[in-house]
Amino acid sequence: MARTNGDTWDLASGVGATATAVAASRALANRATLIDDPWAEPLVKAVGMEMFLRMLDGHLQPGHAETDVQRMTHGMAVRTRYFDDFLTTATDSGIRQIVILASGLDARSYRLPWPAGTVVFEIDQPGVIDFKVATLESLGATATADLRTVGVDLRDDWPAALRSAGFDPAAPTAWIAEGLLIYLPPEAQDRLFDHIAALSPAGSRLATEFMPSMGAFHSDDQDGEDRWRRLGFNDDLAELVYPGERSHVIEYLAGLGWQVTGSLVQELFEDNGFDHHDDDMTEKFTGMQYVSATLH
Ligand SMILES: C[S@@+](CC[C@H](N)C(=O)[O-])C[C@H]1O[C@@H](n2cnc3c(N)ncnc32)[C@H](O)[C@@H]1O
Repeated sequence: MARTNGDTWDLASGVGATATAVAASRALANRATLIDDPWAEPLVKAVGMEMFLRMLDGHLQPGHAETDVQRMTHGMAVRTRYFDDFLTTATDSGIRQIVILASGLDARSYRLPWPAGTVVFEIDQPGVIDFKVATLESLGATATADLRTVGVDLRDDWPAALRSAGFDPAAPTAWIAEGLLIYLPPEAQDRLFDHIAALSPAGSRLATEFMPSMGAFHSDDQDGEDRWRRLGFNDDLAELVYPGERSHVIEYLAGLGWQVTGSLVQELFEDNGFDHHDDDMTEKFTGMQYVSATLH
């Protein structure tokens, strides 16, 4: 089913299942001691989707699945380290207000050593927020910051909901939008950045990613499709992302006055000491960058 305005989901359906998928990769990266996220695995288990339980049990379809899993684990380690480092640098600079957009099963509010007085806002659809909060509470997890959750759709008036939750637009803020943009319509992506800029005084920071092509999400080539299936994905990923031309993230942010630095994911793989692959999948992600921006 293609996306529709106002569609909703939980962590086992539609776009919500992508949050469970990335948390499953974080669980594997945590087991491999590449990152420190003890909550990813229990959260994925609590969602209970069979394909991710199988992946955590090591029950994969025969073929190249193990190599694929290792690559996915390394990819998630690179990504998690990038956004963790971004947030640590932001708090080191004195920022004490954080907004995690599309937080999914991100457990940073429970696992990062936030300086005293840090307020973290998490925004996602209500079904996603409620499940994570209730599950972590039942697991005995306690937030390491002053956590305020905001259950709202990012295609709607989320700035109003954020302000109602106590967000201070006069305080420099660090924003992350990790794994979100492709699930927003192109115009909602632009609006998201417009709203962030309007809510950000000088000294604010933003991290996100830039995907030059959506080709990696379309199952038009057999190899890519087989790879997803070997890993147990039965959903058609192409139906979860919004098609159409979208703004170049780096240029768009620069146009709003941000000073932007992009890091090629391929180079980050090498910087982290992980094997570089030279195949169709790499080609589809060519030019993908993690992006950090600052407002002066
Ligand atoms: C791939 S997951 C990434 C989750 C998290 N940032 C992470 O990296 O673990 C995509 C997330 O975007 C959220 N999302 C996508 N579109 C959204 C929307 N319109 N409103 C609120 N949340 C949205 C989903 O609920 C999901 O949690």
